[in-house]
Amino acid sequence: MASDAEKSEAAGEALDTVRTDKELESLKWIRERRSIREFTGERIPDEHIELILEAARHAPSPENMLMIRFVVIRDDQDMKVFLSDIAQEMAQTAFGGAPFELTSGRNWFIGDPHRAAVYARLRDGELFRYPEKSDAVIIVCASESWHDAGYLYPNELFGSVVSGMAIQNMWLTATELGYGCGYEALVCSDPRHAELIRDKLGIPPIWVPLTAFCIGKRISPRALGPSRPPLEGLMYAERWGHPYKRLAFREEGE
Ligand SMILES: Cc1cc2nc3c(=O)[nH]c(=O)nc-3n(C[C@H](O)[C@H](O)[C@H](O)COP(=O)(O)O)c2cc1C
Repeated sequence: MASDAEKSEAAGEALDTVRTDKELESLKWIRERRSIREFTGERIPDEHIELILEAARHAPSPENMLMIRFVVIRDDQDMKVFLSDIAQEMAQTAFGGAPFELTSGRNWFIGDPHRAAVYARLRDGELFRYPEKSDAVIIVCASESWHDAGYLYPNELFGSVVSGMAIQNMWLTATELGYGCGYEALVCSDPRHAELIRDKLGIPPIWVPLTAFCIGKRISPRALGPSRPPLEGLMYAERWGHPYKRLAFREEGE
């Protein structure tokens, strides 16, 4: 559990959310969580890192098999720089090819006039060099073929689903402790890069590196994150296509 002093450093108020007096603790941290890409480079106490790793251990998984493994990189700065180089190169490939005028719609959630400035950092890829400033870079690996059941689960997504749950657990715990996290999928997006990471870290073939999940001390709280669609934009009621109506818009007895 974080002490009050530790919690006082926690993430800034998210301005795009509606709050109520009765807000649940869990929902508070879910709303507070943001992708953070600017870190001070300072070291985090080992006890805090271990609390964050502990959260990963509690992810749900089919038959409790936890077909996920984590390589926790803290001291190997060369590896962090290597990952940052890959991330920057991939960002240049992903965002650098077309001018802002053609592709700015992709970042619709960043308001004017900031969008062009952020986009310049996306195109250059410098925005994604944050592994080198993180305290912990966790290479999250999933396996579709590792488990101790005699039956191969047909769903090839299981490993990724369990990884996602573990990552979210870590992300929320780190947020409550006042740290920032970034999900750097760019490092593993190209299979050739994933292979290089595999070689350097000795990851066996049945384990697939999915992401470099970065944790660090934030330069500043990120108060405003990309907004989300309202419930009506994501949910249907009872049948596909049948609009979900929020309580606030329902008639009495509805
Ligand atoms: C599967 C997945 C892949 C992502 N890939 C990257 C990435 O490669 N680099 C990065 O900086 N952020 C990445 N993100 C973070 C998203 O950009 C971010 O979650 C989204 O824009 C919403 O912002 P928020 O996390 O602040 O709410 C990824 C997130 C997920 C879940």
